[in-house]
Amino acid sequence: MEDEITQRSRAVEWSGIRVMFALADGIPDVINLGIGQPDFDTPEFIRDAAKKALDDGFTRYPPAKGFGDLREAVAEKLKRENGIEADPASEIFVAVGAMQVIFNTILHVVEPGQEVMVIDPGYDYYSQIRLFGGVPVAVPAFEKNGFKVDPSDIRAAVTDKTRLLILNTPSNPTGAMLDREILESVAGIAVEHDMLVLSDEPYEHIVFDGNRHVSLASLDGMKERTISAYTLSKSYAMTGWRVGYAAAPKALIDEMEKLMEHMVSGVTAVAQRAALAAITAPQDCVKEMVASYERRRRIVHEGLNGIKGITCLEPESTFYAFPNISAFGLSSWDFARYLVKEHRVAVVPGSIFGRRGEGYVRLSFAADDEKLEEGIRRIGRAAAALRRRKG
Ligand SMILES: Cc1ncc(COP(=O)(O)O)c(C=O)c1O
Repeated sequence: MEDEITQRSRAVEWSGIRVMFALADGIPDVINLGIGQPDFDTPEFIRDAAKKALDDGFTRYPPAKGFGDLREAVAEKLKRENGIEADPASEIFVAVGAMQVIFNTILHVVEPGQEVMVIDPGYDYYSQIRLFGGVPVAVPAFEKNGFKVDPSDIRAAVTDKTRLLILNTPSNPTGAMLDREILESVAGIAVEHDMLVLSDEPYEHIVFDGNRHVSLASLDGMKERTISAYTLSKSYAMTGWRVGYAAAPKALIDEMEKLMEHMVSGVTAVAQRAALAAITAPQDCVKEMVASYERRRRIVHEGLNGIKGITCLEPESTFYAFPNISAFGLSSWDFARYLVKEHRVAVVPGSIFGRRGEGYVRLSFAADDEKLEEGIRRIGRAAAALRRRKG
């Protein structure tokens, strides 16, 4: 069978994060700070809504682009929180997580040979881009700028083959947020060069220090060229429910709906009912979880910076820290492998997030205080051992 697998499929790589976890799996008493998901259970009222939906008969095929009342609730949320006016009938699509929005967007708008700009270091969109024949073009984001992309670097990367820019704010893995000024410059470049932008915003609610998330599609001239991707996964601790949504121009939403019919027929009905409950309820559960992440951020940020050889910017958002480990002279994979094998802490090698992620690792602080404190202690011991080794 192996010989019959298409080149297209072969071009897709196994997720580096999975490879790392396979390593961690066999190690007893490992502290896994690699996982990119909330450690909280989905709030009870959301679980109750799903149970009720089962009893109410939500057991049949749902509409391919999502239940109408859910799309209406999403439209209200987009208006209230994101400043985006989207028609629930034609400009919103309920998806299997933000992941499906990313996949569909690239499939529908990128022709083979066209270029897709991604931020480096940034979330790994490379496999999806290559699967559909697109050419990823990495735009650097520098630690000295807090890992915020400089719009002039986006401008410099534009060619006549550029089709799409993928922007992820707040950023996984760096925890950087793009402020209004940067986004306005990016919007100007997108309009000037007639570019589409996929604005991937899964961490919109997980922001600290009173920062406010700005959605690119809310800026002048952007709604008609932006595909905005959102998810219930992170805000409501619902990674396993697989519900997200897109706001985009009608032509693209139509394509998503059409393909959904041919592919999986829609997002699981009860999961959509749970999503409706989550979005329409008072948002206290989100605030409580974000307050925990903000507190845990301090443990990780102070802990890491207390270790000789490691420096770490304070994440403004998300539940990720992205410490610089280049002083040890190891590749980020070798550092992560050493850490998990010898000191039983799993982190994600930064190079998974692009060439410029080399020299960093990603740590998730979606874990309880005790685990974080012990994880930091172990990283401290690993760092001391590496320093002795280096002499
Ligand atoms: C930047 C980014 N985009 C998209 C996703 C996918 O999220 P979902 O669970 O909604 O598919 C993730 C998940 O980690 C993410 O970090």
